[in-house]
Amino acid sequence: MKQIITQVKSEGPEQTWEAAAALMESLEPGTVIALHGDLGAGKTCFIQGLAAAMGITDPITSPTYTLIGEYEGRMKLNHIDLYRLANSVEALGIGLEEYLESDGITAIEWAERAEEILPESMLHVSIEKGCDERSRQIEIWRAVACES
Ligand SMILES: Nc1ncnc2c1ncn2[C@@H]1O[C@H](COP(=O)(O)OP(=O)(O)OP(=O)(O)O)[C@@H](O)[C@H]1O
Ligand SMILES: [Mg+2]
Repeated sequence: MKQIITQVKSEGPEQTWEAAAALMESLEPGTVIALHGDLGAGKTCFIQGLAAAMGITDPITSPTYTLIGEYEGRMKLNHIDLYRLANSVEALGIGLEEYLESDGITAIEWAERAEEILPESMLHVSIEKGCDERSRQIEIWRAVACES
C-alpha cells in the first residue's frame, strides 16, 4: 500500500525545485529516494532541486555514461540513473548496493529497473506530466506493508 506524504502541483521547473527543497528539510542521512516518471517528466530536475537545497554548486547532469554521479554538499548526494540497465543483476554490476549503504542521500532515477535490491523503506517521488507543457503532479510516498 502507498502512504502518501505530499502531493503537489508544479507549473514549471522552479516549482519542482521548491518541492524538492521542501522535502530536503526533512531528509535523514542515509535516505534512498526512488524517482519515477516518463522520459522528461522532471526526475533530474527534482534532484537538481535537492542538490541546490544541500548547497551543492556543481551542476547536476544526467549521468549518462557513468550512471552514477557523486556530489558533496551539506550531505553527500549520490545521483544514479538506471535507465540503461535491464535489471537488478546489472545494477549489482555497477555497485549499486554500496550506495544503498551510504550515509548521504541516494537519488535513483528509473529505480524500477532494480526494484528487487532496493530497500522497502525508501522514499518514492513520482512525477507525472499534466495537460500543459510545464505542468506536473508530484507525489511523494512510501510503501507500507499491510497489517496481517
Ligand atoms: N514543472 C516542471 N517540472 C520539471 N521539469 C519541467 C517542468 N516543466 C517543464 N519542465 C522541463 O521538463 C524537462 C525535464 O527534464 P528532466 O531531465 O528533469 O527529466 P527526467 O525525468 O530526468 O527524464 P529522463 O528519464 O530522460 O532522465 C526539463 O527540460 C524541464 O525544463
Ligand atoms: Mg533524468
